[in-house]
Amino acid sequence: MTDELGFDGKVAIVTGAGGGLGRSHALMLASRGALVVVNDLGGAVDGTGSDKGAAERVVDEITAAGGEAVADTNSVSTPEGGAAIVQTAIDAFGRVDIVINNAGILRDKAFHNLTPDLLNPVLDVHLKGAFHVSQPAFVKMREQGYGRIVCTSSAAGIFGNFGQTNYGAAKMGLVGLTRVLAVEGAKFNIKANAIAPLALTRMTENILGGLGDKLDPSLISPLVTFLAHEDCPATGRIFSVGGGRVAEIFIGETKGYVNPALAAEHLRDHWEQVTDHRAYFVPENLNDESGIFLKALS
Ligand code: NAI
Repeated sequence: MTDELGFDGKVAIVTGAGGGLGRSHALMLASRGALVVVNDLGGAVDGTGSDKGAAERVVDEITAAGGEAVADTNSVSTPEGGAAIVQTAIDAFGRVDIVINNAGILRDKAFHNLTPDLLNPVLDVHLKGAFHVSQPAFVKMREQGYGRIVCTSSAAGIFGNFGQTNYGAAKMGLVGLTRVLAVEGAKFNIKANAIAPLALTRMTENILGGLGDKLDPSLISPLVTFLAHEDCPATGRIFSVGGGRVAEIFIGETKGYVNPALAAEHLRDHWEQVTDHRAYFVPENLNDESGIFLKALS
């Protein structure tokens, strides 16, 4: 490998970086010269409790390795918390170039048993948390004409998984946020992408079985590092990543069936055409999709 991807002077916020994937991202970015805000509330997997030491310990690791970082223990789950996290970056390093939305919690339950206390905190941390942190950062990024945002989605939402309506909805919501940020950020050299990781952390330690050995969190961070870099070619994209494998997940639309006098029976009779995956488009954004739509009608 030549021409290492460096981050000299770039300022990165990594939320939920007191352990697991976030810690790994923070260590990798810092080792390549980024100035890092290590944010973490330090709670349990279900979001209860807090440990102010979690972020500090990762900062100590970064500092010991010769990097530069500051700890932040605000919660991403409120607008005030998000603003405070971005302010930590401004106070310590004077700017913010990169936001890695990674903080997360789990409160799994089959849908018929889901209660508001299992739903709201999950939406607050994953989905609204990304809004709360990204928005004040986005304002700065627009002003400076540069920014990179990475949201942590999940296959649980993109593809569906039992017991995770709350988590899945939040994670797929992040795809929507990412895609609109890509559209709104384009003019300002702000790129936003989403990842769907698979790695052995405290969140997954009981479900991965023997596969866990192959799924070190450090194998997620190279993708996050690339998406956070100036050289990142992608925006508005989703990537599956784990165990050293990286692949793009994309949202396609079939060629479809057109009938100006459409009735339910036509759909019964032409369902195969509606759902024929052999030919499809991959729209970049709504404008793109509208164009395809109008062309099909003409
Ligand atoms: P983790 O539990 O080790 O990391 C999540 C971190 O977020 C924790 O350190 C926690 O203290 C922090 N956090 C929780 N609520 C917070 C809040 N309100 N404010 C600030 N920090 C908060 O688990 P892991 O696996 O590292 O998860 C990282 C992200 O990756 C999460 O968003 C998770 O949903 C996502 N993910 C992980 C997968 C995996 O295979 N490990 C699979 C798919 C998605």
